[in-house]
Amino acid sequence: MILNLNDWRQQAKRVLPAFAFSYVDGGAEDEITLRHNREVFDRWQFVPPVLQDASQRDLSLQLGSEKLSAPLLIAPTGYNGMLRYQADLMLARAARKAGITYIQSTVSTAAMEEIAADGSGNHWFQLYVLKDREVTSDLLKRARKAGCSTLVVSVDAVHFGNRERDKRHYRRPMKLSVPSLLNVATKPGWVWRTLKPQGMPGFGNLQPYLPPQYQRGVGGASYFAAQMDTRLDWQTISWLRSQWQGPLLIKGILTVADAQQAMASGAQGIVLSNHGGRQLDGSISPLLMLAEIRAALGAAATILIDSGFRRGSEVVKALALGASAVLIGRPLLYAVAVSGEAGVEQALSLLRAEIDRTMAQLGCTHLAQLGPHLLRQR
Ligand SMILES: Cc1cc2nc3c(=O)[nH]c(=O)nc-3n(C[C@H](O)[C@H](O)[C@H](O)COP(=O)(O)O)c2cc1C
Repeated sequence: MILNLNDWRQQAKRVLPAFAFSYVDGGAEDEITLRHNREVFDRWQFVPPVLQDASQRDLSLQLGSEKLSAPLLIAPTGYNGMLRYQADLMLARAARKAGITYIQSTVSTAAMEEIAADGSGNHWFQLYVLKDREVTSDLLKRARKAGCSTLVVSVDAVHFGNRERDKRHYRRPMKLSVPSLLNVATKPGWVWRTLKPQGMPGFGNLQPYLPPQYQRGVGGASYFAAQMDTRLDWQTISWLRSQWQGPLLIKGILTVADAQQAMASGAQGIVLSNHGGRQLDGSISPLLMLAEIRAALGAAATILIDSGFRRGSEVVKALALGASAVLIGRPLLYAVAVSGEAGVEQALSLLRAEIDRTMAQLGCTHLAQLGPHLLRQR
């Protein structure tokens, strides 16, 4: 029975081959940050007022020029085609139906043009800056043409995290070990849903730049790894600012100084994130930096947050501490792997119902009423 987002994870563990589940579920090294991202919510407890008449509630918010029906966005995640054929399209459609934003990764399986052609909704593009600046510029041009309204530049994966849980499934880079291959053979449903339609998934956005032999799976991934620009600095952000006219957010910020520098570089806001515990193990959970960073940036800045959110009550805690809205990563990948688009719709509506119930129990009718007065730190 699926009653909450953690139930999707249990189901996904059953239907996905172990290597694909580990790819999504795992974190870096000892997974200290991955675990901490879940524990951190317990540091705050609600202090709920009563008798406030919260019978009518509105979860909508304005984010820049876009209206969201709830304070949620789908986090950018790469290579979703490994979970199910057309997973990106399913995530984008579910976001559109729910009235929230879908952020598409540079390394998504679907090309941004495919998502745009499927229908318009709040569609943002997440950029990994590549060494080849012409390719990077071209990605931005295509994103604009595909109707992506906002650019999210991810800056915390410049040096790839050491994901050991993931690595254990491979005998050489990109070559599955014998036990992992045997495990795939026990998941015919996954093979049918994921590989049968078109074989190994590719990287839709990168396809125009990939030599023919690199178009699918292994080749595309190694091209991408070699193309990641490891020399990023704040000047790169200024260059991107000159290339992109619309709103720009920087994802992967965890310090007050970087948050301030992001705004000084012309960004409209930031995504506080430790990449879901997949990058620097031992790094702080963004929730612990949120109030301080909100105080430093002021009320006007867009401050999104992710890493570890699984409950509506946790989303509400982040909003009360100063977040504008929350990105959800893994749970929606589990939902798409298990039940496709309908799964993502159901997961989003469970989360929405939890946010709504929490608001009611806190006596709040609008998101603007949430604030630190509703929380006490243990
Ligand atoms: C399988 C997977 C792939 C990801 N790929 C990307 C990516 O391509 N670009 C990016 O900015 N973040 C990527 N992320 C990080 C997410 O955008 C997000 O920060 C993280 O998943 C949030 O934590 P949560 O999964 O605990 O909700 C990825 C995360 C996962 C789990």
